[in-house]
Amino acid sequence: MQLTDYHISRERSAALFEEAKQYFPGGVNSPVRAFKSVIGPPIYVEKGDGCRITDADGNTFIDFCCSWGPLILGHNNAKIREAVIEAVQHGISFGTPTRRGNEIGKLLLENNRFIEKIRFVSSGTEAVMSAIRLARGVTGKSKVVKFEGCYHGHLDSLLVKAGSGLVTFGVSTSAGIPEAFAKETIVLPLNDREALDHTLSKQANDIACIIIEPIPANNGLLLQDPSYLEYLRDKCNEYGVLLIFDEVISGFRVGFEGAAGYYDIQPDIITYGKIIGGGMPVGAYGASKDIMNHIAPEGLYIKPVRFPRIQ
Ligand SMILES: Cc1ncc(COP(=O)(O)O)c(C=O)c1O
Repeated sequence: MQLTDYHISRERSAALFEEAKQYFPGGVNSPVRAFKSVIGPPIYVEKGDGCRITDADGNTFIDFCCSWGPLILGHNNAKIREAVIEAVQHGISFGTPTRRGNEIGKLLLENNRFIEKIRFVSSGTEAVMSAIRLARGVTGKSKVVKFEGCYHGHLDSLLVKAGSGLVTFGVSTSAGIPEAFAKETIVLPLNDREALDHTLSKQANDIACIIIEPIPANNGLLLQDPSYLEYLRDKCNEYGVLLIFDEVISGFRVGFEGAAGYYDIQPDIITYGKIIGGGMPVGAYGASKDIMNHIAPEGLYIKPVRFPRIQ
């Protein structure tokens, strides 16, 4: 059966999409909303309740997208709605610290053995960008290793794919990314110990960090061999390279401590997003006190530690 056989009316959605094309490139504010791989125009959602969404034409669907991950409690959850309304009544943003900020910081740190301090940001991309800057600041090195099939947001240095043949430095996947930025990124195949060993043995003196989705979920679910993650941890220790777990998807989903807790592996820095905001624009990154104290305002006064060079 074809999707078109369902004869779902999408007239109002189609009209809204036509109108949106006048305002936004391609009619959308994110390419993933354009329904390019799905028949017909995007559906325009009017409301969500629990696991269901209703569109502008009155069709109701079971929502398997859940805002691309964050809504693990479904739409319009009563407890969340009431907490949000209660908070909004006191104002939305102040540009100063708040008591509520302390509350969530305490809640997260007291229930996660893998981070001692956390910083909140506005998106998963920002969390990853900041974590990489932190790793570079701490180590005084510049290159980043990422893995094929892992997605880490739309920051310049990670919108890269593997070069062909023996070229492991990245090749940009988008116009507007200078070649020099892409060359700071090395792209390796997942689960390949030989490729990792080869790269570290040749370039560890320039590599600040290795970033991985410990449960890669952006390209199908590429479940890792847990022993590879342990191997990665050991190799990072051996070569003085920081290990970043990008838990924007797995954090608070596979457990409160995310994949770090699930596999019981201590990364150096962890990034969070999506679920931490329950659909609102929030991300965060966390690490040990030693590493987090490199961040401004404290880190303004800390010189990068040049990790010992490998002879
Ligand atoms: C693993 C991972 N890291 C980072 C990001 C970027 O997060 P955001 O879209 O909030 O910027 C995503 C987004 O899907 C992601 O899946």
